[in-house]
Amino acid sequence: MQARTVVVRAEEVDASISPRVSSLRPSKTMAITDQATALRQAGVPVIGLAAGEPDFDTPAAIAEAGMNAIRDGSTRYTPNAGTMELRKAICKKLQDENGLAYTPDQVLVSNGAKQCITQAVLAVCSPGDEVLIPAPYWVSYPEMARLAGASPVILPTSISDNYLLKPESLASVINENSRLLILCSPSNPTGSVYPKEQLEEIADIVRKHPRLLVLSDEIYEHIIYQPAKHTSFASLPGMWERTLTVNGFSKAFAMTGWRLGYLAAPKHFVSACGKIQSQFTSGASSISQKAGLAALNLGYAGGEAVSTMVKAFQERRDYLVRSFRELPGVKVSEPQGAFYLFIDFSSYYGSEVEGFGTIKDSESLCLFLLEKAQVALVPGDAFGDDKGARISYAAALSTLQTAMEKIKEAMALLRPPVAAK
Ligand SMILES: Cc1ncc(COP(=O)(O)O)c(C=O)c1O
Repeated sequence: MQARTVVVRAEEVDASISPRVSSLRPSKTMAITDQATALRQAGVPVIGLAAGEPDFDTPAAIAEAGMNAIRDGSTRYTPNAGTMELRKAICKKLQDENGLAYTPDQVLVSNGAKQCITQAVLAVCSPGDEVLIPAPYWVSYPEMARLAGASPVILPTSISDNYLLKPESLASVINENSRLLILCSPSNPTGSVYPKEQLEEIADIVRKHPRLLVLSDEIYEHIIYQPAKHTSFASLPGMWERTLTVNGFSKAFAMTGWRLGYLAAPKHFVSACGKIQSQFTSGASSISQKAGLAALNLGYAGGEAVSTMVKAFQERRDYLVRSFRELPGVKVSEPQGAFYLFIDFSSYYGSEVEGFGTIKDSESLCLFLLEKAQVALVPGDAFGDDKGARISYAAALSTLQTAMEKIKEAMALLRPPVAAK
């Protein structure tokens, strides 16, 4: 019998999207990158300083391990939680570098830290729960909370506190619905690093609330500038039991495209996240896991391959901090880690520019810089702080120098800033 083709007209298709997805906001970091790409395709020499990935290639030893994995036939599904050899290596890293004791069944390897965080939020948060997120925050945290049906509660921080959450601000918002506090140190987008003492004060507050868990996003751990020191939140007294530690390979090892990250937490949380992963993506790429193992074998904190990159990042940070401080009215808090600078341009808001219009917020400021300086930054609004913009210094020093000259020229078109608040 011949099959009959039923033709359905577009207007007959129910194109409604689930409210869970409709409530999500698209990533603004992607939007500005797309806009810069479009300009570039139109022949405008845009300098893109919006992306969140290192400009270095994956270190050769890691890339080689990935190629060997393909040659040696490590091309099949791995266990959902990740290969035993990689999970054992992660446990050793967490013990040696972070003072954290985990067994392989308390570790889950995923396709990037982003998947780890999404699964963790989905696993522990229910509708009605509140997820406490200090701002400026990494763009995805509030959306992940929404995806779980939970409510993001944004805790503003200030440049005068180096964008670090004040323990008293945290204490003032906690209630019986507070389920998860997300900490990110070193931070995207500010580069701030929490001193151990401040984390201890935060832990003292967390300890009083049995329902409250902490997700500690430590993906920028190795990109840190002396004298700052990284402290894993789970290493503080009483915090291991209620902390979900996330880390990954993308940033420190310049492995963004390999998609590899991991979660370490008490077994019941890891098992719940593993259950989601098993019905969602299964285990991470077998090839990337072999490469990840090679990355952990580079030595303490990534050895020389990582310290060379960190040295370059620090030189660029120093240059940018110095240069932005020369701009009147611009405020900068010196980042202690990661490869971002969050610059407070708010004293320029209200400026009229001929042929452009008014600079009224972080978005118009970034559009202005894209148009007049051909430099792409990300508006602070995307990170929950409209006063600033994020510049990524994952670009050669010479590129940053050109960008800085153009930014200075463009800023000179703006009316002198109003007295900085
Ligand atoms: C703070 C933070 N956490 C997590 C991630 C996710 O990293 P990946 O999924 O590449 O491992 C990023 C990437 O931009 C990030 O900036």
